Amino acid sequence: MSAPRPRVLLIVAGGVAAYKALELVRLLDKAGVATRAILTKAGAEFVTPLSLGALTHDTVYSDLFSLTDEAAMGHIELSRSADLVVVAPATADIMAKAAAGLATDLATTALLATDKPVLMAPAMNVRMWEHPATRRNRAQLEADGVGFIGPDSGPMACGEFGDGRMAEPEAIRDAILARLKPGSAAPAPVGLMAGRRAIVTAGPTLEPIDPVRFISNRSSGQQGYAIAAALAAEGADVTLVSGPVALRPPAGVRTLHVETARDMLAACLEALPADVFVSVAAVADWRPAETAPQKLKLKGADAAPTVSLVENPDILATLAQPGPLRPGLVVGFAAETQSVEMHAAAKRARKGCDWIVANDVSGDVMGGAHNQVSLVTAEGVERWPRLPKDEVATRLAQRIAEAVNQSATVADA
Ligand code: C5P
Repeated sequence: MSAPRPRVLLIVAGGVAAYKALELVRLLDKAGVATRAILTKAGAEFVTPLSLGALTHDTVYSDLFSLTDEAAMGHIELSRSADLVVVAPATADIMAKAAAGLATDLATTALLATDKPVLMAPAMNVRMWEHPATRRNRAQLEADGVGFIGPDSGPMACGEFGDGRMAEPEAIRDAILARLKPGSAAPAPVGLMAGRRAIVTAGPTLEPIDPVRFISNRSSGQQGYAIAAALAAEGADVTLVSGPVALRPPAGVRTLHVETARDMLAACLEALPADVFVSVAAVADWRPAETAPQKLKLKGADAAPTVSLVENPDILATLAQPGPLRPGLVVGFAAETQSVEMHAAAKRARKGCDWIVANDVSGDVMGGAHNQVSLVTAEGVERWPRLPKDEVATRLAQRIAEAVNQSATVADA
């Protein structure tokens, strides 16, 4: 007889991110996890009990005082019949009620009645997330043993930008699976980079000319995302600072979405201290000296606007500057089309970084799946074979792990 499927009680509260809960149920089902759902009254404004029920293959519970629901399963049993209780999206409201121990509806009653571990995936407006009351509630919930995944940073449905986007369903699924493993209620990271902090930049930057036009480049972000994922797979605590790309944030990585070089620099500085900084982003060298507040108008054939450019800050060179916050290992990338290794060695000295991954972009590298790199260090040049980008990432993560393991962690400092 096969082992019973692990069970999750998923509480879907009221937020725009509730639609992602449907995808989460589908991913859990594929991973062999059974889900039973509680949909709050506000949650039902965003997803229907019908769609949630179709995906969970079960009744969707919503009403604390429903005779039919209670007949099917009482709230105590409901809260204890699962191996893990997950709240996704966890709104500011449900966090506040859970932190205060209120039991005003079925969802909060189940949270109070459960004897199982609880994982919350917060989703809310950045101001609400940063409000001292929400911070207090989160600290209280953590003290009570509640686990958290996310939130991520980036553009939000409300038009603002910052921390508060619910973690992606894949990341929540992975956090759930890690917790469902026997004896892993709070999984300790394992791997060569456990206990190490890494910052990785990826993708292009986007420099606005006016509200609708911009300067950017063709970087896909694939190599940087693969490196962030490979470092996380080695157990590192990774912050990925990403320009606009069409990629899903890697599971288990804190992904911050930025647009301009200046925002990318600010996000990197804020993420310090770190043991390693890997600068993969194709940062735009220049930005328009001014961003027009209104869309520039066509004014006739001989009146095309002139866009004057100014240089962007060099993020790699800034983080490589000597000082107490300089990461122990600073790695830059160099995209070259000729005399690759010679130019890379010169760039290593100019930027003040420890290694340069020299990238021959004379072929189909930009946006392609493969990369041909050479690793330029103080010791010399190593030419690697042409490899898929995720294998370049794995090799580089292993080399980074070997190097940082010869030094103390930032946490020790
Ligand atoms: O000078 P170049 O653009 O070729 O240098 C490439 C390296 O420098 C990459 O690691 C890139 O991420 C980083 N860089 C940066 N900030 C810039 C320009 C490049 O961090 N403004």
